[in-house]
Formats: sequence, C-alpha cells, structure tokens
Amino acid sequence: MSTQKIPVGILGATGVVGQRFIQMLEDHPWFEVAWLAASDRSEGKSYEDAVRWRLKTPIPERVLKMPVSPAGPEGAPKVIFAALDAGIARELEPKFADAGCAVVSNSSAFRMQADVPLVIPEVNPEHLALLEEQSWRKKSGGYIVTNPNCSAIGLVVALAPLHEKFGIESLFVTTMQAVSGAGYPGVASLDILGNVIPFIKNEEEKMEEETRKLLGKLNSHSVQDAGFTMAAHCNRVAVEDGHTESVSVKLKTKASAEEFVAAIEGFRSKPFELGCPLAPEKPLVYDAAPDRPQPRFDLDRGKGMTVSVGRVRPCGVFDYKFTVLSHNTIRGAAGAALLNAELLKVQGYLS
Ligand SMILES: NC(=O)c1ccc[n+]([C@@H]2O[C@H](COP(=O)([O-])OP(=O)(O)OC[C@H]3O[C@@H](n4cnc5c(N)ncnc54)[C@H](OP(=O)(O)O)[C@@H]3O)[C@@H](O)[C@H]2O)c1
Repeated sequence: MSTQKIPVGILGATGVVGQRFIQMLEDHPWFEVAWLAASDRSEGKSYEDAVRWRLKTPIPERVLKMPVSPAGPEGAPKVIFAALDAGIARELEPKFADAGCAVVSNSSAFRMQADVPLVIPEVNPEHLALLEEQSWRKKSGGYIVTNPNCSAIGLVVALAPLHEKFGIESLFVTTMQAVSGAGYPGVASLDILGNVIPFIKNEEEKMEEETRKLLGKLNSHSVQDAGFTMAAHCNRVAVEDGHTESVSVKLKTKASAEEFVAAIEGFRSKPFELGCPLAPEKPLVYDAAPDRPQPRFDLDRGKGMTVSVGRVRPCGVFDYKFTVLSHNTIRGAAGAALLNAELLKVQGYLS
C-alpha cells in the first residue's frame, strides 16, 4: 500500500551513497522516495539524465523521470537521507533540521557534535536520546542523526560484544579500504590500479574518535567516550566494494579464545527483534575458515548488512588479533542510515 509509506527525500541522490539509497529504498516496506536533490549541476534534470548510475541493478522505475530539485528544504519531505560531502553537509543539513526535517546523515560534519547522536542501532540505540538536546528539535521538531564512517562501523559492530563482555583497553587497526569509499569518480584509476595508497584524508582521526563515541556511555546530556587507547592506519586498496580490517585488541578482563569467539557469535540484534526490516538477524558472523573473510566471497552476507569476522588468534603484542569485513556503501553508508531511520520510526521519532 504505497500511499501509507513515509515519503522520504535524498540529498546527494546522484552520488555513490545516494545511488545505494535509491536501490535499497526500491522495495522498502516503510519508506518511499518522493524527492531527490543534488548539486546545481544536476538540478532541473530528470534523475536518469543527471546520474551516472554505477550499480548492477537498473535504476528503479519510480525515480527514472523524477526531477532533481534544488538542495533546499522548500517542498522537501520531512524525512531526509543526506549523502553529501562534509563541507556541503555542514551548510545544508542544519537548514533542513531547522525547517522541521529529520535529517539522517552519512557525512562526518556533525558526527562528533555533543548533541548529535552517532548511532549503530545494534550497538548504541540509547544514544538517540541526545536528539532532545538539539536546538532544532526544540524549535521546529527537526533534528540531525548520524551514522559512522564506513570503516568505523564494521569495526564497532565487531567490538561491541567484546567491549560489553570483557572491556577494551587498547586497540590497533589497519584498514584496506575499497575504492567506492571515495565516492564517484573517486580515486583516479592510474593512482590505484596495482597500488596501495597509505593515506585517506582525516580517516584515521575519524575512526579513532567515532569508535570511542559509539562505544561510550550516555550521560544525562552527552556521551562520555569509551576512553581506550587506539591507533588506526588507513589504506586505500584496489578493491571495488568492501573494507577489510586487521585488528589487535587488549582486553580489560582476560578471555580464552573460545570465550572471545563465543562473544562474537552470541551477539544478537535488538533492531531485528523490534522488527526493523533491514536489520539482519545476525549483525555479526564468525567465519572459522583460515583464509576468510574476503570481500569477493563474504561481502553480501545479510544483504550487505552483516559484518564478518574471522582469523581470531593470539596476538604477540595485545591479547587477540582478528580480521573484520563490512560492506562500505551498504552497512557503512546507505544501509546504516536506513537502519537508523527504521529505529527512529520504531522509537516514535518520525511521527
Ligand atoms: N562512499 C562510501 O562508501 C561512503 C561511506 C560512508 C559515508 N560516506 C559519506 O557520504 C557522503 C557522500 O559520499 P559519496 O561517496 O556518495 O560522494 P559522491 O559520490 O561524491 O556524491 C556526492 C553527492 O553530493 C552532491 N553534491 C555535490 N555538491 C553539492 C552541493 N553544493 N549541493 C548539493 N549537492 C551537492 C553530488 O551531486 P552532483 O552529482 O550533482 O554533483 C552527489 O549527489 C560523504 O560525506 C561521504 O564521506 C561515503
């Protein structure tokens, strides 16, 4: 019954993440795309003329001829998925929140602002309470909620049960990040083919601060960050989709390898139990094969929403080392924001 669905808009609808939003919203049971916006390069064109579609499924019929609107709140629906670069997001997202919209953002612009929740629904849904601190919410009912950086999200889903059961004292992570994480056209092919680029601007800082905020404790008006020491090394590699991460962790309470793996395998999903359509029953899967997970084979678990962990073994420096894999444009971007919106709906923030 499409008329009963909540109409949503997509800001940055023509980009890598915007395209994923459109693909993932095609058959969404609760939301339907009603409005699209991008830069003035695209404004006024039909979506099919404005976009350079890079996904394997065709552009959904519903949006083919939909016009690309100016990127302002006039005429926009009340629920906005935002997939803009941080600089533009910093300017545009508050305008939508000010106009009474729920802005479900992918960008880093407001993730670390004290009154903005940075949320992974399986990990820290209680942080949504920060919405009540926002001046936009008090004035117009609008607000901004964010999902983490695409490399922080896989890591934190994997760490959440370990932090809860044993406590994390220190953490060392090296990423191998897919080219789709850089947007479109992203990294030039001559720079990345047959190469590894050991630098992604601001990525290491984002991973470190976001990981600690996500695993932090909600106090009355803010989040106290998790406080462990952490070092992130971020690299771009010639993989199309899927961020792989090598992690070493030191725990506060010692655990056997069996207990460590059991914590990962036992992680259950509250949003799944609440009936959120995109929430996989298993947000985290442990793969016991010695050479997994790999992006080529394991990326689409749980329709791209399940994070894979493998290779748990003792670490010569910390306690354990292991490998994490997650889909950067689904679990790490559009799917993350959609699941946040589903949680908002379930918790009554979209009414
Ligand atoms: N790619 C990932 O895996 C990933 C993961 C997590 C988070 N993110 C974050 O998500 C955001 C979008 O990333 P992306 O990879 O989708 O980038 P992208 O492919 O470069 O797309 C950028 C989008 O923003 C639009 N835009 C540019 N300037 C604008 C302006 N002045 N006003 C309105 N719209 C404008 C573009 O429209 P035109 O087509 O008209 O230029 C396009 O739709 C970024 O903050 C990124 O860090 C990305």
